[in-house]
Amino acid sequence: MEKKNIDWGNIGFGYIQTDKRYVSFFKDGAWDEGVLTEDANVVLNECAGVLQYAQTIFEGLKAYTTEDGHIVAFRPDLNAERMESSAKRLEMPVFPKERFVDAVTKVVEANAAYVPPYGSGATLYIRPYMFGFNPVIGVKPADVYQFRILCTPVGPYFKGGVKPLTIRVSDFDRAAPHGTGNIKAGLNYAMSLHAIVTAHAEGYDENMYLDPGTRTKVEETGGANFLFVTRDGRVVTPRSDSILPSITRRSLVHVAKEYLGLEVEEREVFLEEVKDFAECGLCGTAAVISPVGKIVDHGKEICLPSGMTQMGPVTKKLYDTLTGIQMGRIEAPEGWIHVI
Ligand code: PLP
Ligand code: COI
Repeated sequence: MEKKNIDWGNIGFGYIQTDKRYVSFFKDGAWDEGVLTEDANVVLNECAGVLQYAQTIFEGLKAYTTEDGHIVAFRPDLNAERMESSAKRLEMPVFPKERFVDAVTKVVEANAAYVPPYGSGATLYIRPYMFGFNPVIGVKPADVYQFRILCTPVGPYFKGGVKPLTIRVSDFDRAAPHGTGNIKAGLNYAMSLHAIVTAHAEGYDENMYLDPGTRTKVEETGGANFLFVTRDGRVVTPRSDSILPSITRRSLVHVAKEYLGLEVEEREVFLEEVKDFAECGLCGTAAVISPVGKIVDHGKEICLPSGMTQMGPVTKKLYDTLTGIQMGRIEAPEGWIHVI
């Protein structure tokens, strides 16, 4: 199959329209059988639930070309499960897990020409999403929904690839206690836009959000979980009910313990402790693991000993092992790699 003529090594994290996407409707209490379509536009009523009350959820995962030339997706079953909990929290219907994985497979197959080649540095980002379709004016859930999956080839999420990031502690909160921080709802991202635009304007790459209850504990950034490394080589990652349960973080915890023999602590992490860590990274599907070199807390700089020129050694090992598993260079734990 001939690949599209794209300068794979130089694309950023943006939208490039591909040939096919998947669409399924939920109506009268059931999902239809779903189709692949070439139509990239969605036409909906002016009063659609998604437009009025932001009833929309999404997922993000990637497909890769492995060293031996297969196309694979990374743990799509976990995205299906997380989307199920997002749907339940926003009173939306569940798109069944088997059908979710099957639809991911169909979309990637149909857009195989857009899956970046092995070694190009780019990947195919897959975006399943669901939204309230029919008109609602009183505050209530829609009863017609559309589930769609689009995909787009992407390069690194942060410009500059693996150059360590500078982030700041945000004065805004991302999620309320007992709110929606632990699901992947569009509303969580709408409310982060002002914080990210002002962070960028002030020269920061991202925001570190604290727990809204006490503002003493590290939560996550707008699009990734935190991983820290202590000076004696332990991996520490925040546990909180109001952060998104990152599939990358869960995978890295396994890699750290089972592949690298590292000790891992999943626990509350206080902002006060951050100055004592040796390394810091942001982990997520889009971010993979992006090293953080500096965290600015209201003018006070916390400089990680790993510095501003390269990834710290433990972060690098985690990165190399995870991407090795994803690209087929390192044997994966059972069930992690879904061959398309
Ligand atoms: N946290 C937030 C707020 C995110 O948007 C994402 C991205 O999906 C993550 C964490 C990382 O999650 P995952 O590793 O499942 O992509
Ligand atoms: C992902 O990593 O898949 C995300 O959804 C993060 C998003 C901010 C692009």
